[in-house]
This record gives sequence, C-alpha cells and structure tokens, in this order.
Amino acid sequence: MDKLIVEGGNPLAGEVSISGAKNAALPILTAAILTEDALRIENVPELRDIATTCALLTQMGIWVRRPEPRVVELSAHALSNPLAPYDLVKTMRASILVLGPLVARCGEARVSLPGGCAIGLRPVDLHIKGLQAMGAEIDIDHGYIHARAKRLQGARIVLDLVTVTGTENLMMAASLAEGTTILENAAREPEVVDLAQCLQAMGARIKGAGTDVITIEGVERLHGATFKVMPDRIETGTFLVATAMTGGRVVLTDTRPDILDAVITKLRETGALIEAGNDAISICADTRPLAVGLRTAPYPAFPTDMQAQFVALNAIAEGTAIVTETIFENRFMHVQELRRLGAEIEVEGNTAVITGTPNLAGATVMATDLRASACLVLAGLVARGETVVDRIYHLDRGYQAIEAKLSALGARIRRAS
Ligand code: EPU
Repeated sequence: MDKLIVEGGNPLAGEVSISGAKNAALPILTAAILTEDALRIENVPELRDIATTCALLTQMGIWVRRPEPRVVELSAHALSNPLAPYDLVKTMRASILVLGPLVARCGEARVSLPGGCAIGLRPVDLHIKGLQAMGAEIDIDHGYIHARAKRLQGARIVLDLVTVTGTENLMMAASLAEGTTILENAAREPEVVDLAQCLQAMGARIKGAGTDVITIEGVERLHGATFKVMPDRIETGTFLVATAMTGGRVVLTDTRPDILDAVITKLRETGALIEAGNDAISICADTRPLAVGLRTAPYPAFPTDMQAQFVALNAIAEGTAIVTETIFENRFMHVQELRRLGAEIEVEGNTAVITGTPNLAGATVMATDLRASACLVLAGLVARGETVVDRIYHLDRGYQAIEAKLSALGARIRRAS
C-alpha cells in the first residue's frame, strides 16, 4: 500500500482532531535513556518514525510497551547496548537524538553517522562539537560516531547556527552532567520547550527553554515521570492550508494556536478567516486564496516544515509569490512534481517564484520527503481529475491517518498498492 489516490474538487468541511507532535515525541522517547525508572508518554502519534524510535530503543535493551493507543511506556533499567546501527539511522535521521543521552547515562555511545538526505546535507557537527566541549572523547570511524566520557562536564556552548535536534541532544546530555551547561544561540522551537518540560518532570534543572539561552544544572540522576506530548503544529498547519486551498470550513481541535502565529498570519493574508481559541482553531475560506510570499527561518519565524504546503497553496493562488528557503539547501524537490500537475514555478537558488493558476490537473507524482508528500496531497485535493501520489511511505512518517482525517472532512482520497 504505497500510493494515495486523490480526486480533487471537494471543499473540506467538519472537525478534525490533531495528533501529538512527531518532533516533540521523538526526543521525549529518547529521554527514557536518561533514567533507570519508568517513563510514561501520552499523546504519542501513531507514525512510522515513532515505530522506528521504539525499535531503536528496544535493540539497546530498553523495555518499550504500548499499553493503549497513543501511550508508550519505557524503562531503561536494563540498557545494555548503547548502539544506534546504520540500518535504523539510515531510515530516520532523528536517531542522532540518542547520542547525548547515551553518553550521559552509559559513558559510551556508538551511533551511525546519518548520510545525506533528500532535503540537504544535514551534518551533525554541532552535536559532536557540543559533546566534545562537555568533555566527551569522540572518534569517527567506519561510519560511526564513537563517543566516550566518564562523566560529562558542564560547559558554555555557543552554537554556530540554530539547530533543533542539536539543542535537544545537548540539553539531554547536560541534564546528567557535572556542573552547569549554558547553551547559547539555542533553538527556541516549541518542541524544545516540550522536551525541557518532560526533562523537568524527570527531575532535570533547566531554565530558559524557549529562549536562545538555555541553562542546565546537571543532576546525579533523573527519575521516572508521566508526560503528555504537545499537539503537532505542522499537522495543524497542513490542515489549515488544505482548507484554505479547497475552500471550506474546518475546526481543528486538540491543538495550540499560540505556537502557530507565523503560519496563521500568512493564512490570513490569503484571505482566509481564522479564529483561534485555547486549544482549537477554526478556518473559513470562501474564495480562491491570494498569493503570499514568505521566508523560512528558525522559530518563531515561518517554519521550513510548512514551506512545501505553502508552495502548493501559491500554485493555485491569485497572484505571484516569492518563497525563500533559508534552513535547508535542497528543499524544493516538490516543485518538479507540482509542475507535472501544471503549476508555474521557477526556482533560482533558494528562492521559488510561483505564479498561481486555478487549473491544476491530476497526474502521477512522486513524494520525495515527508513535507513534499503533504504538499502533493494538498495539490491533489484541488487538481482536476485523479492525482496519484507515489511513495507515500514518506507521508506515514509524519501524518497520522491522514487519508482517514481528510476523508472525514469530505475529501475523496484512498490508498492503493
Ligand atoms: N546543521 C548543521 N550542523 C549540525 C546541525 C544542523 O550544519 O550539527 C544545519 C542543518 O544542515 C540545517 C540547519 O542546521 O541546514 C538546521 O537544522 P536542524 O539541526 O535544526 O534540523 P534537525 O534538528 O535535523 C529538525 C526537525 C526537522 C525540521 C528542522 C528545522 C526533528 C526530528 N526534525 O531537524 O523536521 O525541518 O528541525 O526546523 O525535530 C520534518 O518534520 O519534516 C523535519 C524535517
């Protein structure tokens, strides 16, 4: 089952519940490495990347249980194999998130170096430099990062550029280090804050998460906790864009409008009416959207993980838009595929110029990464006739039950092999 077939033309209407955030759940699951006690994580989305992370932790000797939907219980009391093998890391770059916790808890880690990926080179040099600054000895041989430290030492680390998983890795490592660590130019993403709150519930002493200076006072040991993962802001944004593109009225529940300011501002510029409550957002879009220019940048600016979806929106909008990608060097793979549906898009370096046309026509297109696949599904929702989105396993990494959720809103979408 690796294709989605979408028949365009139906406006979306109804209510949809947003799942837990993939990019918060992934580091939070790896935080289980930091304690011998049991950790219970709630609101975990049912996704392929979550299954990969559970498999990665299990092969280390960590006990992982899923007692009910969306709940994962973990216990690392018998952690025996501080290894992240190539076979798992190659399927999910976020596996690098085990590096910091493993060195901090076991004094040792062997983690396969992630290779390049569809959206850019994505090196992990800042994760490594940060751990070295905390006293870890690190060698790279045979494609593996081998890190050792009797006990990590607190340090002042100025990150060269804003890295989300880099900040998370170092924050976890510092939680068990001796002394105080100060992370400067830290990522301010809400997922970093969610991880910090989980670590605090486990007994970590962390201040400043959500700002660009995070201070972590290391403790001897962390303890078990129960923690509920935040809602997925990118899934939320994707459904908002889908509604703005198809026209319609949708209420998104179990979400957090307060962490979506940049996306909501852009959607209002398209002409959509949006009302934000505490944990719900409603959107009403009656006319063809107006084109909106944007530039991706670290939070709180416009997220790179929403860029592809807004390129799809601009492809059918009224007017011309300029979209600039500043985080990843190769994140316009969806453009070629959108062109196959009739979109008019020119790419020059890290900038796409999109001239909207109301006449996309269905075709077979290929998903290249998670957000590119979402963008192609959105285009399919408005294209005339049938759009077949191939290699849909990319989508299953990050969107829980997307075809069921879209069908419930009135879209014509089904899976096929
Ligand atoms: N970078 C380096 N060296 C490093 C680390 C990062 O040069 O050591 C560069 C990257 O190559 C990139 C930039 O810094 O150009 C930012 O990368 P970052 O490290 O912030 O990305 P990430 O932590 O690998 C997370 C999300 C991504 C999201 C980015 C940016 C997770 C598991 N992944 O990746 O999510 O795009 O932050 O917000 O949190 C997705 O969900 O589709 C996705 C790709």
